[in-house]
Amino acid sequence: MSKTIDFLGESAAIAQLKHLALQVAQTEVTVLITGETGSGKEVLARFIHAGSRRSHKNFIPVNCGAIPSGILESELFGHEKGAFTGAIQSRKGYFESADHGTIFLDEIGEMPLETQVKLLRVIETGEFQRVGSSEAIYSDARIIAATNKNLQQAVAEKNFREDLYFRLHSVELHIPPLRERERDVLVLAEHFIHQFERKHGISFEGFTSEAGEILLRYNWPGNVRELKNILESLLILEKGKQITPEILDKHLVQRNKYKGLVYDPEKSEKNELNLIYNSLIRLHQEINEIKQLLRQRESTHEDHPKTPLLLPPPLPAKQQFPDSRPDTVSKSGTAGTERQKPEVETLETLEKQAIADALAAFNGNKRQTAKALGLNERTLYRKIRKYRLAAED
Ligand SMILES: Nc1ncnc2c1ncn2[C@@H]1O[C@H](COP(=O)(O)OP(=O)(O)OP(=O)(O)O)[C@@H](O)[C@H]1O
Ligand SMILES: [Mg+2]
Repeated sequence: MSKTIDFLGESAAIAQLKHLALQVAQTEVTVLITGETGSGKEVLARFIHAGSRRSHKNFIPVNCGAIPSGILESELFGHEKGAFTGAIQSRKGYFESADHGTIFLDEIGEMPLETQVKLLRVIETGEFQRVGSSEAIYSDARIIAATNKNLQQAVAEKNFREDLYFRLHSVELHIPPLRERERDVLVLAEHFIHQFERKHGISFEGFTSEAGEILLRYNWPGNVRELKNILESLLILEKGKQITPEILDKHLVQRNKYKGLVYDPEKSEKNELNLIYNSLIRLHQEINEIKQLLRQRESTHEDHPKTPLLLPPPLPAKQQFPDSRPDTVSKSGTAGTERQKPEVETLETLEKQAIADALAAFNGNKRQTAKALGLNERTLYRKIRKYRLAAED
């Protein structure tokens, strides 16, 4: 009996694929489903069966690659008693069981050439014979085949019959690999997490944002199957933990391989999210430093020379950068008198002064300057440009 089958996914590619699948489901056409391992070929075949008028009949999956070639024919077409050693009684094959239903021939590229001839005949006439019998049997089984191989190449290498390829290829539904549909990673992950939480009675503690980013960037060589397996392992083996990149990485098949990113815990700054996070921390530090500078100025009433925090004392004037003194002109353009009113100096003025002093103190070395100021170098370069403090390297 049919049960509700959904081919999950919200990416545009999957929406289009499902639309096509439902269209072909209404017809009797033979379908070839292609896609990498674990991408959901069998799920899609079941989805087509469930959407067809055959849904109340059998769906028979056959893995042509897993059945030894010597017995594949008798499995598919059945055999008569005594047809071969060990055939102690006659037995019907999958095509008979799938009569009025659907037979799903997975890994069709692995089918031996002599079986391919017989399959072509079934597709064309619906007829076949049990092994050891000459009586023609008719099966009204709808055929859906699948492969993760390049069948065209198999044809070129004479491992797959061209006529069968063309018969199968008339409607091809291709499932894109999971790495090309980031949106589906989230949809599927959410679905599987809920499914496994219910199954195991364990609640999932979630991913850190960096780990979530890795889920999206990972190559997923095992596609949805790998995602599903990993989520179940994480739930059980890492019970009660929030999943960090380090934990996640331990469970991935291709460790440290992410699209455009090699995750290295030592250099996690390369991670875009980390960069943003770090910039926020720096910004926070900068604000604190500026506040402290202001407080310091208030307490010294501007009587003493400015000494930026975290810095060695300023060097003699001749070593200072020529353009290192900040403008004392406020944004409104009033000059002169404001020098006597330090409390109205803008934060920008103070920041410019602090950076100029630090650059002077470290002889223009931007790395040391950035470190001393608690800025990252990128921010320092930006500010140097902004305040026109020194020519860039
Ligand atoms: N779109 C999907 N919605 C829900 N589950 C999916 C989806 N795609 C794949 N899965 C799940 O991923 C696993 C692998 O799917 P399936 O067996 O259909 O892949 P396949 O392409 O046939 O793989 P293989 O090439 O190894 O035979 C299954 O557990 C299946 O339930
Ligand atoms: Mg399969």
